[in-house]
Amino acid sequence: MKKLIAAASLCFASYSVQAAIIVPEYDANAGKQIAETVCAACHGVDGVSVVPAQANLGGQNVKYLYKQLVNFKSGYRVNGIMQSQVANLSQQDLANVAGYYSEQPVWSVGFANPATNEEATKLYLGGDKSRGVIGCAGCHGPDGAGNSWAAFPRLGGQHAEYISNQLKLFRAAGREDDVTGDEQKRYNDAEKEGEKGMMQMVSSRLSDRDIRILSDYISALH
Ligand code: HEC
Ligand code: HEC
Repeated sequence: MKKLIAAASLCFASYSVQAAIIVPEYDANAGKQIAETVCAACHGVDGVSVVPAQANLGGQNVKYLYKQLVNFKSGYRVNGIMQSQVANLSQQDLANVAGYYSEQPVWSVGFANPATNEEATKLYLGGDKSRGVIGCAGCHGPDGAGNSWAAFPRLGGQHAEYISNQLKLFRAAGREDDVTGDEQKRYNDAEKEGEKGMMQMVSSRLSDRDIRILSDYISALH
């Protein structure tokens, strides 16, 4: 029961933080030009990347994309490659390119591993109470479509390697989450007191094996 309450309040906390993200009005045509000249080499013009460590972006929700770009720019999300890509872009550019990619068709999906599919389905949908693992579907949706209002990212069909990298980064607290803009300072202060982001909490309970089977499963989810 205690764990259920913890999971419910985690969801509530994340809804309220992420829902507060406000994307400036964007111009998808201006965003397309940035995509073509700066981003396409790695993410494709249409947001489908051929390199598994580089995320697919097409059809991802705009709030989530915008938040990530702002976080790369502020250095809150650390990745040398992406930080240098956005260094010379304005907030408006970031909104434009996020808007452009969000309007592209969703990428197509990969193939699951039949040997671990059943186990992964259970974990994804319902978690594992005996180990304190929280299921993913409550926030990312049973079909992995995410939640565009709350800025929970679409996961379904994303590259397994990229998913696995991110889960390990969250687990090692090398990727921060649930923070943006003015909220950032408040959370930085809270973090100093040891408070974790949502995905940091979720991933702290995942074993390497959980991460592997969930990443395979997610890459085929739709
Ligand atoms: C040289 C290759 C490269 C270029 C060019 C590039 N990216 Fe990236 N991008 C990456 C890599 C690698 C990652 C994964 C970073 C990580 O693991 O944290 C990434 C991650 C992202 C993410 C996070 C995706 C997610 O699901 O959280 C977004 C958004 C993004 N890139 C947008 C862009 C945009 C917009 C541009 C152009 C302005 C761009 N990228 C240019 C390599 C690139
Ligand atoms: C309480 C809600 C919640 C639950 C439960 C949850 N997530 Fe998340 N997840 C989020 C949020 C919010 C983000 C975006 C964090 C950010 O803005 O950087 C996220 C981001 C991610 C990302 C990064 C996606 C990308 O494109 O970079 C992955 C991978 C992920 N979650 C996997 C999972 C898995 C696997 C589970 C189940 C074991 C899970 N999540 C459970 C809320 C949740």
